[in-house]
Amino acid sequence: MSEPFLIGDSMTGGYGKGPDILHDCTIAVDKGEIAVIVGPNGAGKSTGMKAVFGMLNVRSGAVRLGGEDITNLSPQDRVRKGMGFVPQTHNIFTSMTVEENLEMGGFIRTDDIYETIEQVYELFPILREKRNQPAGELSGGQRQQVAVGRALMTKPTVLMLDEPTAGVSPIVMDELFDRIIEVARTGISILMVEQNARQALEIADKGYVLVQGCNAHTGSGKELLADPEVRQSFLGG
Ligand SMILES: Nc1ncnc2c1ncn2[C@@H]1O[C@H](COP(=O)(O)OP(=O)(O)O)[C@@H](O)[C@H]1O
Ligand SMILES: [Mg+2]
Repeated sequence: MSEPFLIGDSMTGGYGKGPDILHDCTIAVDKGEIAVIVGPNGAGKSTGMKAVFGMLNVRSGAVRLGGEDITNLSPQDRVRKGMGFVPQTHNIFTSMTVEENLEMGGFIRTDDIYETIEQVYELFPILREKRNQPAGELSGGQRQQVAVGRALMTKPTVLMLDEPTAGVSPIVMDELFDRIIEVARTGISILMVEQNARQALEIADKGYVLVQGCNAHTGSGKELLADPEVRQSFLGG
């Protein structure tokens, strides 16, 4: 079996000189697939995402993209390699308009970004309607669309999303998941953290349950949903 398209392989590390948060933790995603990371609060899900994106020094382990070792690249250089990241918090510029947020997302590009803005508007039609409104005036679900759209502006091959459905209603969550599936179908790999574990595993090709910075359970979304221990401990029975 060949290696996954993006892999944070056996990562150990923490913040600055602080204690290790991740312990031999592995998360990965294949081309055009959806991988989901779930687990209790404080398990290290966001830390794992930051490690894969280069916002954290890993003391051991490696990150590889398309077989290339990118462990020592800055986040900016990872964006140039095709990675997009939507962090859990502060993921939009609230005082800027929707369209300005998308333009900012395309800042590293030297070619025409308006075709991509058009594609984002096709994916999220409400953003076209609100294009001239400050993003801070939008609803929670719409802001998350801006954040995802902003990350799509660099035309990534892999999109990392940290809790894209946080604080939205179940209907808006379903809608966002549908859009994320649509993005994956275009061949973009999705690596996302989700607190709506059951719903997220239903759309996941691969799932990771993290506990205290370690891999507790790994499998296909289906396997994890059927695993009695995962159900009992993490899915509410
Ligand atoms: N910037 C930071 N500096 C120091 N410790 C942090 C920082 N961010 C998170 N942590 C710690 O790392 C651990 C894992 O947090 P986090 O990755 O945010 O968990 P999760 O996303 O699974 O809820 C927690 O103990 C948290 O206090
Ligand atoms: Mg988190």
